[in-house]
Amino acid sequence: MRGPKVPEYIRKLAVYVPGKPIEEVERELGVSDIVKLASNENPLGPSPKAVAAVKAALPTLHRYPDGSGHALRKALAARHGVDIEQVILGAGSVEIIEMLARAFMADADEAVFSQQSFVSYQLAVHQVNGRAVTVPATPGRGHDLPAIARAVGDRTKLVFLANPCNPTGTYFPRPELDRFLAEVGDRALVVTDEAYHDYVTRPDYPDAIEDVKAGRHVMVLRTFSKVYGLAGLRIGYGIAAPDVVATVNRVRSPFNTSSLAQVAALAALEDGEWVRSSREHNLGELAYLQGELERRGVAFTPSVTNFVLVEFSSDIGELFLEFQKRGVIIRPVGGPGLVNCGRVSVGTRAENDRFLAALGELLPARAGA
Ligand SMILES: Cc1ncc(COP(=O)(O)O)c(C=O)c1O
Repeated sequence: MRGPKVPEYIRKLAVYVPGKPIEEVERELGVSDIVKLASNENPLGPSPKAVAAVKAALPTLHRYPDGSGHALRKALAARHGVDIEQVILGAGSVEIIEMLARAFMADADEAVFSQQSFVSYQLAVHQVNGRAVTVPATPGRGHDLPAIARAVGDRTKLVFLANPCNPTGTYFPRPELDRFLAEVGDRALVVTDEAYHDYVTRPDYPDAIEDVKAGRHVMVLRTFSKVYGLAGLRIGYGIAAPDVVATVNRVRSPFNTSSLAQVAALAALEDGEWVRSSREHNLGELAYLQGELERRGVAFTPSVTNFVLVEFSSDIGELFLEFQKRGVIIRPVGGPGLVNCGRVSVGTRAENDRFLAALGELLPARAGA
């Protein structure tokens, strides 16, 4: 390659592979009517209030956004009962994950997380030449919090906990988080990634913003990409102590969230009805999907959120292509303990039925099922 030598750690970086866009599959296969169940989006669409706010803001597109996102941060602070200085916005919560790595880690510093968790943690850590320390999941594909606490060492700067976890769909309850935070104390910043928070209905599911308020060394990440239906606009946020937010702000690019994303998020935040109906829809369809998998004798990890990790009995690469030929995009998942696993997002009833029909063709139901 021309020019200066690219650092080894950059050359070695794995590239994030997103869920396949519908248009790409349509182009490749020359088919239409594709169902995408690969990226855990809201199948009902964006909050209508957010759409109206975006339309109303179009005439001001020649202006730069408010770089600090004051109005949205103020609304989020009020919503969560924290100070505005405790809120930071990102172009999706993924950007905050990357900012955290840039802000807190230098060469050979470590971040600890569960082996079967969100791939972006590893990518963010490797981008800054940090060390990713991964801890095997429990047999039920949950976070092994005692083992993660034991893996926190002198060089550990960050711990990422996905709750609920992507791609497994599992969660850890309040007592486990309490024990974990007591164990880790202030030795590392604990980042609880709650992208799917709004979907969970379990009474013991912890809201880690309570831990931020209690003065624990925690940053909570949330997003507008899931239940609010704004994945295309790229907007998420973090909540932590003011000094943690100030540190992350040092590495934030000046206009990291767009004006349209900010107005849409502000409107969506007020759209309680959209959140309620989307959550209700998800609960019903998740039960349907899992019930059908069970009936067909297909193994899966019980989920508390808007996707299901399915354990197929044959090669996931081939199955992925076979699903695609039938117009259904699922997400193949790899890595330790995830052989032949695929993640399937909860869609509309029609979309879920398309997946189940394709599944029926590819994996004939067990006799008697
Ligand atoms: C666990 C988890 N965290 C964060 C994100 C990032 O979401 P976004 O960058 O769209 O806010 C995702 C997206 O799939 C996720 O699964």
